[in-house]
Amino acid sequence: AATAGTDLEHVLLTREQVATRVAELAAQLDRDYADKDVLLVGVLKGAVMVMADLSRAMSIPLSMDFMAVSSYGSGTKSSGVVRILKDLDTDISGRHVLVVEDIIDSGLTLSWLLANLSSRGPASVQVCALLRKPDAAKVEVDVAYVGYDIPNEFVVGYGLDFADKYRNLDCVATLAPHVYS
Ligand code: PRP
Ligand code: MN
Ligand code: MG
Repeated sequence: AATAGTDLEHVLLTREQVATRVAELAAQLDRDYADKDVLLVGVLKGAVMVMADLSRAMSIPLSMDFMAVSSYGSGTKSSGVVRILKDLDTDISGRHVLVVEDIIDSGLTLSWLLANLSSRGPASVQVCALLRKPDAAKVEVDVAYVGYDIPNEFVVGYGLDFADKYRNLDCVATLAPHVYS
């Protein structure tokens, strides 16, 4: 994957740290959903990397679908305004749904999404997020599976973008100040 050289300031999580934690989460999900027909719902675009790696690290049969919602646009701050850009193809009534996210920042996106999905009558809805920023929370969201709690800094890589770039970094890192200006 691209290293983006001088654009990065500080690597928070290496590729190895991400892979290790994703494997642990997958093992836990294999156990917890062993007797359930689980539907992984990846939240585009940020969740694509964790969705691809987590699902391949899991051993149980599963289904996958995707939703696209956006609250950030091209900036670095959550607007709190959530738009559905692409809805599920799947009827989740009676299904065990696991929402897969790259990061929970303010929690506004997920909070809105959980209310939306819950209204469709699923058997269960849980969340697996690789990253969470506890100090950025504006709403508390109950997340059963979290990879890493991280400081309240803007990070990119492994699906996370700045102005739609840097998603393909294989690590999670902060950006050098010159990138913003
Ligand atoms: C990012 C991230 C989460 C959400 C978290 O998505 O991937 O989905 O923001 O922020 P919140 O907890 O403050 O709501 P974004 O809206 O940037 O869209 P993207 O996944 O396409 O980058
Ligand atoms: Mn996202
Ligand atoms: Mg984004």
